[in-house]
Amino acid sequence: MKARILQLLREQEGYVSGQDICRQLSVSRTAVWKAIGQLKEDGYVIEAVQNKGYHLLEAPDVVTEAEILSRLHTAWAGHPTVFLEKTDSTNNEAKRRAEAGAAHGTLVVAELQEAGKGRRGRCWTSPGGTGIWMTLLLKPDFSPSQASMLTLVAAMAVADGIGRATGLDAGIKWPNDLVIGGKKVCGILTEMSAEPDYINHVVIGIGINANIEEFPEELSERATSLFLESGKRVCRAEVIARVWEAFEKYYEEFLKTADLSPLKEVYESRLLNMDQAVCVLDPKGEWKGIARGIDENGRLLVEPENGKRIKTVDSGEVS
Ligand code: BTN
Repeated sequence: MKARILQLLREQEGYVSGQDICRQLSVSRTAVWKAIGQLKEDGYVIEAVQNKGYHLLEAPDVVTEAEILSRLHTAWAGHPTVFLEKTDSTNNEAKRRAEAGAAHGTLVVAELQEAGKGRRGRCWTSPGGTGIWMTLLLKPDFSPSQASMLTLVAAMAVADGIGRATGLDAGIKWPNDLVIGGKKVCGILTEMSAEPDYINHVVIGIGINANIEEFPEELSERATSLFLESGKRVCRAEVIARVWEAFEKYYEEFLKTADLSPLKEVYESRLLNMDQAVCVLDPKGEWKGIARGIDENGRLLVEPENGKRIKTVDSGEVS
């Protein structure tokens, strides 16, 4: 109800009458009045004028359920959305909820993570008020071997979402780092619970440096934020909504073949490594080559510098 009221207020330049809200949402005057009161408590500045109605003057940059849902146009991704002021890690929270029976499409968003996780067991610093820390829960029907491709689908969705919400052009460093101006702006951590032939659930955790104004010295060479790249504070809920809208669209495409063949072209158009020199950090020994795109399973195609046949890289990092 708060989300729907916010949506109505935002769509309207001027005032929306209480009566109109009641009619459109099929609720009582008292219910509208109560919800407006709660929104004011949440930090929204709403003017109420007799005989005219309500007018939204100012909205805080929050990532609450109401703020996200008032902007989100999806069939299932983000329904329900769960907002937490703080948690250890949204991935952990989504996994706990999955085990307790949460639905496919549940989105967990936290203002602050106390133990944010990065890939390869690294920590992911997740301060409150400035970042986007969120995880989507999926319960897919395909086989566990296909799940790793979801991380590439998510990377494409984040690039699109950032572009639509901020106008910034984010590229993908294979497999799933989002980079602007040579620096990382977003990381994705996908985790799965599965039997040999059956997926219990997959969680896709996305961390976007949104309004972070400064990074510690050791990170500032490698990390950036949407704020630093655009010079403007971004509306985090808008970025979140655009990301999941793009994800839902790409995921439906992915399901058609359960591989990346329908999405390969779009992914490659975003791939910063395309036709660039890469160093493959293979545990069996480093080697160099030129990246030539991805195959339908999301593996990187690399033409070795010694001129041998193109190889596929599916593990180990490239730099
Ligand atoms: C990486 O190392 O690049 C992946 C970083 C993933 C961070 C996000 S923030 C939301 C979600 N919860 C976590 O604990 N990690 C992911």
